[in-house]
Amino acid sequence: MDKGKKVIFSAVQPSGALTLGNYLGAVKNWIDFQDKYKCIFALADLHTITVRQNPEEFHKNTIELYALFLACGVDPDKSTFFIQSHVHTHSELAWILNCYTQFGELSRMTQFKDKSRKYSGNINVGLFTYPSLMAADILLYNADLIPVGEDQRQHVELTRDIAQRFNSIYGQTFTLPESFIPKAGARVMSLQKPDSKMSKSDENANASVFLLDRPEDILKKFKRAVTDSNSEVRFNHEQKTGINNLINIYSAVTDKTIDEVEKEFEGRGYGTFKTSVAQAVIEKLRPIQDEFKKYMSDIVYLEEKYKKADKTALEISEEVLNEVKKKVGFVI
Ligand code: TRP
Repeated sequence: MDKGKKVIFSAVQPSGALTLGNYLGAVKNWIDFQDKYKCIFALADLHTITVRQNPEEFHKNTIELYALFLACGVDPDKSTFFIQSHVHTHSELAWILNCYTQFGELSRMTQFKDKSRKYSGNINVGLFTYPSLMAADILLYNADLIPVGEDQRQHVELTRDIAQRFNSIYGQTFTLPESFIPKAGARVMSLQKPDSKMSKSDENANASVFLLDRPEDILKKFKRAVTDSNSEVRFNHEQKTGINNLINIYSAVTDKTIDEVEKEFEGRGYGTFKTSVAQAVIEKLRPIQDEFKKYMSDIVYLEEKYKKADKTALEISEEVLNEVKKKVGFVI
């Protein structure tokens, strides 16, 4: 591996369509990381089956998400972008790490508690050991930095604890990762409830904009976005409001500062502004949507790219896995 650059590992689950929030808050950062770091990205499909999936949809989501990431600018010649279930070292190391993770630790994970409530009919063991699979993902590549949202931070902390524990028993083996919450990257809120995050699973169809939404739907959603009773396009520093969210979105997709946005729309009402935000988002997404269509019409190309990445991921991770097995005392 290239020793000079720090290693970034990140993964997303193929569990539904990406929102504008995912794009501005996460995917865009992945693209920027590619020049500065050694990037290893994955579709974490093994994690996805901790919640019951419809097989056809799950299959379709995985291919589409792979194509969508390429369309957004993940460059398979610069980064290793693979599919987790294709690389057997992940489930193997996850098993080993399960034996170095305490029941109590996993019981304290907030995501486990939240998901147990949300999916109370299917509190499976995979949901419980989800964090040790995530630890395996990270530790197999000796990753230094893990860009994650607030909700995954606790899992990265646990990964450090597990790595530290293993290192203290067997000697230096794993790099201790750090979560990395990039400064840039807008936090995009729901268009209907601007005090909660835009989510791909929101029941209100008007709350979230998806990367593959049609222009007319994007326009409709922004026109219906909830704003307050003022009419001036001004950032409100005291309160979280719908207009702040729209200003943030416009600023993120046009690369203009908040000040510039306020000036541009001085004396014009919310109506005009909403249309402009929609237009800017439509223009930003247009090339991504075009590229997406191109990739989806060439499945052979996609296959070629992920197979190559799967192979690279296997080569890197096998070394780490073998070292672990040797240290534990397996006959290999
Ligand atoms: N659990 C993460 C999520 O749902 C996805 C993920 C899987 C991940 N393995 C990872 C993220 C390793 C960072 C590092 O968002």
